[in-house]
Amino acid sequence: MSLILIAHVLGYTVWIGGVFAAMVVAFAARQEPAAVKAGVFRLIARLYTLVIGFGALAVIGSGVLLALSMESGGLGDLMREARLWVMVLLGLAAGLIVLFVGLPTATRVGALAVASGKGELPPAFDIYSKRLMVVSWVSGALAVAALLAWYVF
Ligand code: HEM
Repeated sequence: MSLILIAHVLGYTVWIGGVFAAMVVAFAARQEPAAVKAGVFRLIARLYTLVIGFGALAVIGSGVLLALSMESGGLGDLMREARLWVMVLLGLAAGLIVLFVGLPTATRVGALAVASGKGELPPAFDIYSKRLMVVSWVSGALAVAALLAWYVF
């Protein structure tokens, strides 16, 4: 297995695993007091940048390199299998959502996740944390679909 392929496999592994972990932790924090919830979401924001975003970047970068280094040395080789096209398109859509919607939203959530002296979170926190969960769910589902496209079809 080449190093680029290893980066590809590790990339989607930490990406999908990170999204799953973030969603489970966010769900578990729902009933926690505001200060705990704020701490949890600050950590989720860091998980997003350091693990999920990094994984998505690694997958897209290595995916492009893999495509360019295919046997015929060109993108024409991508045409050979439908499952390859499906994986590339779903993976690209998922990765771009993570990088251009998920990461900015996670940064905003991290900045908003500070409980006031009265133990309340700012109203915008609710909006952005829900948005982050929806974005995570959609991009995570697309990433899993890309994986299934390769192995199942
Ligand atoms: C979450 C997104 C993605 C997942 C889950 C995924 C999954 C996979 C898997 C399982 C393989 C086969 C690994 C092996 O041979 O053991 C693979 C290979 C490959 N992927 Fe992806 N991929 C994703 C995104 C992308 C993207 C965005 C691109 C292109 C920009 C891409 C291009 C490729 C190429 C060119 C190969 C090599 C195919 C071959 O040598 O036959 N992938 N990917």
